[in-house]
Amino acid sequence: MFVVVGVTGGIAAYKTVHLVRALVTNGHEVHVVPTENALRFVGATTWEAVSRHPVTTSVHDDVSEVRHVALGTSADLVIIAPATANTLAKMAAGIADDLLGVTLLATAAPVVVAPAMHTAMWEHAATQANIAALRARGVHVVGPVDGPLTGGDAGPGRMTEPDEILSAALRISDVAVRGIVDATASGDLSGLTVAVSTGGTREPIDPVRYLGNRSSGRQGTALALAAADRGAEVTLVAAHVDDGVLDAALRHPRITVARVSTAAELQEGMTDAAARADVVVMVAAVADYRVSAVAPTKLRKEDGVPSLDLVPNPDILAGLVASRRPGQIVVGFAAETASTDAELVERGRRKAARKGADLLVVNRVDWDRGFEGVDNDILIMDADGEILAEASGSKRTVADAVWDAVIARRP
Ligand code: C5P
Repeated sequence: MFVVVGVTGGIAAYKTVHLVRALVTNGHEVHVVPTENALRFVGATTWEAVSRHPVTTSVHDDVSEVRHVALGTSADLVIIAPATANTLAKMAAGIADDLLGVTLLATAAPVVVAPAMHTAMWEHAATQANIAALRARGVHVVGPVDGPLTGGDAGPGRMTEPDEILSAALRISDVAVRGIVDATASGDLSGLTVAVSTGGTREPIDPVRYLGNRSSGRQGTALALAAADRGAEVTLVAAHVDDGVLDAALRHPRITVARVSTAAELQEGMTDAAARADVVVMVAAVADYRVSAVAPTKLRKEDGVPSLDLVPNPDILAGLVASRRPGQIVVGFAAETASTDAELVERGRRKAARKGADLLVVNRVDWDRGFEGVDNDILIMDADGEILAEASGSKRTVADAVWDAVIARRP
């Protein structure tokens, strides 16, 4: 989802950093629009770092791209947190003297406000009249809650905690999205069916232990969300992913999530989904080996150091390439450790030749890069090892670059 987070001038702005981070972690594209006063509390650098997008308060930046209107018209959801009494008054009157005001007038998306102010200001007749006017216009008001306020006072006026704002906003947009997006599947992937795998498989050793890997599932989920937002019908076969990563996909009207655990289950899920898919993307980190005989009871220390007899798992990607239907595009991923760019490219080329996928997305991984993070750095090559594109940035940005390459490849 394309989410605009408006931040206005209250101390609770620091909590909105967590809200933005949670939205980004859950795979949403987030654009923060602070007011001038908001920047006194939390600076543009912080908003840019957490949202991974440039931040401005002015309607005069990026005029050629009509940014002031584009943000509002692109938004699927607008959240204002914290919303000061002044901002609520400006919203009620439709004043558009900064980027946030213009964005609010330009948007047709659901708008959620989380007011934060001193109790006296909240209870003032003017604020209450503004809130009533906004509610009548369909704006969703979350909070404020009762509690300690800055300056030692207590009472209603405290901003609702970020987690609660997030779940309320997602619930509200869920209702809106299901009503609107279902009917209007437009986008450059509309009409296509795609199958994406994500996460890491777990191969059991005994009832309590497994062989696994550090995949968070973020890149595959970002690919599924990007495809669905661009109009495709998506089956997302998800092995184990980090908490919260699948949330946005589970709510998307054009994504069906199938949960699996082992490589064998993932193979079954992907083979089934690939039979209907125009594009197949294998992002999941599949364990190359499994234990030949899973112990029916817990291996115990008293029985000595166990030795695990491993057998290879099937190469699912190779199987999908071999059974590719005419016109179907199969995309593989290659997460490689490499000490230089040249070594990375060379390893990618060898894998491209071995796997035979139409496109291979190569990314470097290490102890501290590739897995688990929210960013990625990739190059896309064809089966001959020719580099077609490079991309870096958020996993969503990378996902969009992969879909661009898929579209360029389609007849
Ligand atoms: O062989 P390697 O694991 O490096 O290849 C990575 C690519 O192959 C990824 O697209 C991954 O999803 C896929 N893969 C697979 N089955 C395996 C191992 C990897 O489909 N057993």
